[in-house]
Amino acid sequence: MIALPGLNLSAQPSEPLNVPSSSATRTQELSANTEYRFEVAFARALTIKLLTGTAEYFGTELAPSSTYTFSGTKGAVFTWHGCKLEVGGEAESEYVAEETQMVGTVNAHFALESLRERAVQTRDAGPRVLVVGPENAGKTSLVKSLTAYAVKSGRQPMVVNLDPRQGMLSVPGSLTAAAFSSIIDIEEGWGSSPISGPSPTPVKMPLVYHYGLRDAEEGKVFRPLVTRMALAVTSRLEEDPASKQAGFIIDTPGGIGQGKAGQYENIEHIISEFSVNVLFVLGSERLYSDLSRKYSTQGLTDPVHVVRLDKSGGCVDRTEEYMKALRHAQIRAYFFGTGETGLAPHSQSAGFDELNIFRIVEGTGINFNDGGDAYGGTNGESIYERLAPSGDIVNKLLAITTAGATDGHGAIRDASVRGYMYVAEVDEAKKKVKLLSPQPGQVPQTAVVLGRWPEDVPSLVG
Ligand SMILES: Nc1ncnc2c1ncn2[C@@H]1O[C@H](COP(=O)(O)OP(=O)(O)O)[C@@H](O)[C@H]1O
Ligand SMILES: [Mg+2]
Repeated sequence: MIALPGLNLSAQPSEPLNVPSSSATRTQELSANTEYRFEVAFARALTIKLLTGTAEYFGTELAPSSTYTFSGTKGAVFTWHGCKLEVGGEAESEYVAEETQMVGTVNAHFALESLRERAVQTRDAGPRVLVVGPENAGKTSLVKSLTAYAVKSGRQPMVVNLDPRQGMLSVPGSLTAAAFSSIIDIEEGWGSSPISGPSPTPVKMPLVYHYGLRDAEEGKVFRPLVTRMALAVTSRLEEDPASKQAGFIIDTPGGIGQGKAGQYENIEHIISEFSVNVLFVLGSERLYSDLSRKYSTQGLTDPVHVVRLDKSGGCVDRTEEYMKALRHAQIRAYFFGTGETGLAPHSQSAGFDELNIFRIVEGTGINFNDGGDAYGGTNGESIYERLAPSGDIVNKLLAITTAGATDGHGAIRDASVRGYMYVAEVDEAKKKVKLLSPQPGQVPQTAVVLGRWPEDVPSLVG
């Protein structure tokens, strides 16, 4: 390949200028209100240890003298009062930023805290928060920081992830909700394997639903699933006063904020189903302006407060390649655990006739409008088709639902997910499927759903 000057197109990956020449351990001093930003490749590791002072990673405090190891990560260690870090290993990029968005984040947290205080006094529901904005605007980072601050204030907020591109407490392609009552794991973030084994961040059993498509705008499952999850989250909150008063925070994919002509049907649907009353708009003036105009109508009994937050200069655009590696890392962690909390997935053999596989029907139309009833297909149209096992399902994920194999399509769509299996091998001659599962157990009798998303994971075993 020809190396073009100025474009990084040489076959040899050229070293970015800001990579330190050695990977030796070094000391990084941070003055108050600054952050150390870094990017680490998947094949590399960067270690950070807090030597003196205090520091936090997306709202979660670093424990002094503990070594944190980051891999395949873009992030920042922020300090309110100054600190000294020991940094080891290789970063693709690293620098100290004087201008951060942490004051805005902490102000947003205090605003939510006052709503929570009021909820405690009136025994009412706490803030119902939605975060929207383009991709890589810092939505997930904001949700993590707000969750971490809430937990530090003694709250147990629920977090709802509606972004199928990145999983929370489960694999990508799932939509989940869980109450957080303890700190978020610094190295693993939300983690992806609480059902399957020792979880880096202990949470109460999360609610998991299978989406199986890449974008909210695809197919006909997103809005009905939002409706279903809103019901499930609301009933969880009714059972748990502490979470009810803490409220919930919903994270979303960037695509739903790209409505044409100010139409944001998915955002409006989430707001009405979850009775959202605080809307944080990150990094898009246009989206903020459209939404604040829409929700500033006077005289609403329960108004939606639309708040604009600035995008952090630290947000990095993540390439498709990086996102794919991130998803694979999440899927790997779901089945195998991470680091010291390694798991051995269980292998099972199932006959073709033992499995009830449903596949989301292709080409159900982009920008599907909710014409149908929420609990069945639209006008008798199918959401799924039965699928006989074949070599085509190798390397794919199957969602084990709680729905019966003869249930209607609406019931399958709305069923929660017990866990995911990975199709390791298909022997068409012997009519056998080799499945990998984080938990031991029998071949599921219930409906299992094959999505079109996430993509195949060829290198998971062997
Ligand atoms: N202040 C920051 N410094 C360094 N990296 C950051 C910072 N804020 C966010 N990032 C990183 O930028 C990327 C995009 O942020 P993220 O919160 O995931 O955006 P979104 O959820 O809107 O797509 C992530 O890899 C995240 O860890
Ligand atoms: Mg995100």
